[in-house]
Amino acid sequence: MSDTHYQSLGMSSALEKQQKQSRRSKWIVVGSVIALVVLIAVGVTVGVVVSNNNKEKSGSSSSSSGSSSGSSGSSSGSSGGSSSNDPSVFDKDPNLHKSFYGMAYTPEGSLPDYGCSNSLAGTIKDIQILSQLTSRIRLYGADCNQTALVLEAIKQTKVDMQVFVGNYVVDGDPGAYERQREVIKEAIETYGTEHIAGVTVGNEFMLNYVTGRSSNDANSAIGNEGAAILKANIEDTKKMIADMNLDKTIPVGNSDAGSFFNTQIMEAMDYGLSNVHAWFANTTAEDASKWVTDFFDETNVKPAALLPNNPKMYIAETGWPTDSKDTSNKNNGAADASVPNLQIFLDTFVCQANSAGIGYFYFELVDEEWKDIKYGGVEGHWGLFTKDRKLKDVKIPDCAAP
Ligand SMILES: *[C@@H]1O[C@H](CO)[C@@H](O)[C@H](O)[C@H]1NC(C)=O
Ligand SMILES: *[C@@H]1O[C@H](CO)[C@@H](O)[C@H](O)[C@H]1NC(C)=O
Repeated sequence: MSDTHYQSLGMSSALEKQQKQSRRSKWIVVGSVIALVVLIAVGVTVGVVVSNNNKEKSGSSSSSSGSSSGSSGSSSGSSGGSSSNDPSVFDKDPNLHKSFYGMAYTPEGSLPDYGCSNSLAGTIKDIQILSQLTSRIRLYGADCNQTALVLEAIKQTKVDMQVFVGNYVVDGDPGAYERQREVIKEAIETYGTEHIAGVTVGNEFMLNYVTGRSSNDANSAIGNEGAAILKANIEDTKKMIADMNLDKTIPVGNSDAGSFFNTQIMEAMDYGLSNVHAWFANTTAEDASKWVTDFFDETNVKPAALLPNNPKMYIAETGWPTDSKDTSNKNNGAADASVPNLQIFLDTFVCQANSAGIGYFYFELVDEEWKDIKYGGVEGHWGLFTKDRKLKDVKIPDCAAP
């Protein structure tokens, strides 16, 4: 996730950070099973605050800014969509445009460490917003029932949305893979394949595996050892899907930091999701878009094209932070966390990547407060929206995503 891009550069000078980040990334991801008791209380508090905010908002009719575009719903003008009980009737925000190829997403509170405080209501609200920005999302893991929550929210909102669901594979915990495989299977059985674009098995597994063993090379002997574990999981998921005799082919992919794709994994996957963050390469906001597209092309697209199975590569995450918890981390070399710089990145990346035919998942929808609490620095500040789902002071680019 956002904090692993030292690694995505594969720069040995950042090894110390990599190892730190490697540990950190385990916490970020939904499949993490290590309990952090102190933070459960924090997580619950956050959940309560957020759900209170949500209550406040859904009870208020003040935010009916999009009543003009919402007027297409001829159903009795019941004072704006947000007060309707039908989640498919909601206010459209004229500031939002469906310009993003895809968006990285995790329903808030989808962490076992935080007591699985996610909710259908919160997920519906997010899907309503997401549907005004993109028609594709990617999830990272399947714990806390998030696959079903997202598919149920799509069903109820009736929006056009494809989901790359995720199984977060945990090094040393085969049960985590199996548990998530079962809930993904159940979710596909319940909701069908209509909104499923793929099943991503593994998120930064290779990154964590090799850096956790003092290696920096996903194709080293140690890397191949980790790859054997992950490859077995990818093949197992392929078999599960084949055995389900579904009405369409669902591709099975993998996600990792940009520089940490193992060749055997690439040969086993139908698609790859690669984290590419210019912020951690210390570029200026002005140079970020070019850096991201060049890095992705050299490190991921070209190597994939050389393989017999030619897996389709996507950028799994790219974005720009707007702030830092502490002033010392507000800059990373020439990279400066600010709202104007987020605007520069949006203006130079989104429509350009669309035109270039690059599939990407923008990182990310909202500021994640738990990351700010837990990790500090820029970690909790990558959202287009604040944690309260207010658009930051940016103009969303206006170009139709492919
Ligand atoms: C998962 O979420 C779905 C959709 O909201 C719900 O129908 C189902 O009961 C949930 N399952 C569990 C185990 O919470
Ligand atoms: C980026 O800048 C920071 C200081 O802001 C420095 O510690 C780090 O080594 C730099 N990283 C790279 C890859 O240049």
